[in-house]
Amino acid sequence: MSMTPRWSRKKPHFPLLAVLLLVFIACSILYNEFSIQQIHESPDHVTRSSQQTPFTYVKPNLPKGASEVLDRFSSCNSTRSYSGKKIRWVDPDAESGRRRSISQESCDIFSGKWVFDNESYPLYKESDCPYMSDQLACHKHGRSDLQYQYWRWQPHNCNLKRWNVTEMWEKLRGKRLMFVGDSLNRGQWISMVCLLQSVIPANKRSMTPNAQLTIFRAEEYNATVEFLWAPLLVESNSDDPVNHRLAERTIRPDSVLKHSSQWEHADILVFNSYLWWRQGPVKLLWSAEENGACEELDGLGAMELAMGAWADWLASKVIPLKKRVFFVTMSPTHLWSREWEPGSEGNCYNQKTPINEESYWGSGSDLPTMRMVDKVLSHLSSKVSVINITQLSEYRKDGHPSIHRKFWETLSPQQLANPASYSDCIHWCLPGVPDVWNELVFHFL
Ligand SMILES: *[C@@H]1O[C@H](CO)[C@@H](O)[C@H](O)[C@H]1NC(C)=O
Ligand SMILES: *[C@@H]1O[C@H](CO)[C@@H](O)[C@H](O)[C@H]1NC(C)=O
Ligand SMILES: *[C@@H]1O[C@H](CO)[C@@H](O)[C@H](O)[C@H]1NC(C)=O
Ligand SMILES: *[C@@H]1O[C@H](CO)[C@@H](O)[C@H](O)[C@H]1NC(C)=O
Ligand SMILES: *[C@@H]1O[C@H](CO)[C@@H](O)[C@H](O)[C@H]1NC(C)=O
Repeated sequence: MSMTPRWSRKKPHFPLLAVLLLVFIACSILYNEFSIQQIHESPDHVTRSSQQTPFTYVKPNLPKGASEVLDRFSSCNSTRSYSGKKIRWVDPDAESGRRRSISQESCDIFSGKWVFDNESYPLYKESDCPYMSDQLACHKHGRSDLQYQYWRWQPHNCNLKRWNVTEMWEKLRGKRLMFVGDSLNRGQWISMVCLLQSVIPANKRSMTPNAQLTIFRAEEYNATVEFLWAPLLVESNSDDPVNHRLAERTIRPDSVLKHSSQWEHADILVFNSYLWWRQGPVKLLWSAEENGACEELDGLGAMELAMGAWADWLASKVIPLKKRVFFVTMSPTHLWSREWEPGSEGNCYNQKTPINEESYWGSGSDLPTMRMVDKVLSHLSSKVSVINITQLSEYRKDGHPSIHRKFWETLSPQQLANPASYSDCIHWCLPGVPDVWNELVFHFL
């Protein structure tokens, strides 16, 4: 009896339908991504206003129902500048236990170079992954130079553990692995699903599209690989996975409850957050504020508040032996080719090879943000491991889709005449750079 797999009774075309549905939903999700234009036009030069006011501390995570849930229609009744309110989190005594700093191991795995290796890479074929996104399938969308798929990350003084899909599944057996964040994190999730799915027979795996939370399930391992759309970590007006391209960002800086209620039961969590904080000032609607009165703060300051609420959740809820938490650092953009090739005027368009210059760092990776993230994570002791992708991805100006992806908006003749003008230099082709981010997760798991 138990020998008969129950899924064998399913009609054979069901998985195909499910995949089609997923593709459809993925397409609609991917529409309305970052306004590439917006990021092109507004390199963030916001300077933080000096905040001399003594801080008022507020407790994060007011009980549900204490305030209305934000959605994309939420608006502020009035806006004043930031008053200096802060989230109270992590007692400073926890300092003594140093955080699990990956770089403190014998070798800094994040420091190294890219080595051309067309024997072991790519780790999967673009066309073999039924869950591939049209935003990231560069070959399918006309990219003919495929070298971007053939690079291996080689740390300077050690080796990255070799990807082994069976071993990864064994680590995931009976567990929930959840990616939480924005579209860069979703790209990493798709990469992980593509890396993992090949060894699971088509009738023993499934993908459940569920608006904000999407779940890939492998029955024989009783395991899931999930993605939760939460680009700003805390509750925000951009939490709708489809319609979130809004002129203004509004967040509840003290509320992670809405999202943490979905991620709290995951066994392994991979968070990211960055680019959404770089699109102008952010409106803050504190939970205790009853009259819709907002405060306004620059992106970095707002991100620090959100990271504070997130860190507070981790500090109080994560037991390191029971839950693994990773934070993926800033994903670099390659919007200005003059930064690696002085005098040139383009961006990532038509870039076919990585940057060779050791320690190259572009303006897309904001150093003050990195220092703030460093600070927040250092307070969390051993509760979170850093996947520091920034430097290694900085070298990969060749890894972005540029024009080789699906664009959902119609491109004008002027745009078509100037491909760089609509190139996506933010996301990453698959197979490609995010596969290595996942190898890093595998390395530390
Ligand atoms: C790898 O690249 C080299 C040089 O470009 C080429 O000669 C070789 O055939 C390639 N090998 C594979 C397996 O693609
Ligand atoms: C991959 O991992 C499995 C299970 O741990 C092991 O049996 C197998 O030998 C590994 N494969 C390689 C190529 O290392
Ligand atoms: C499957 O995994 C879940 C946790 O994700 C666990 O609660 C459940 O007991 C597992 N089921 C089996 C049959 O192992
Ligand atoms: C905005 O203010 C008006 C009048 O002060 C009040 O009636 C309304 O409820 C407020 N809106 C919100 C969203 O708090
Ligand atoms: C990540 O690496 C860079 C150098 O490549 C370093 O400056 C930064 O502090 C690291 N960030 C974290 C959070 O470990």
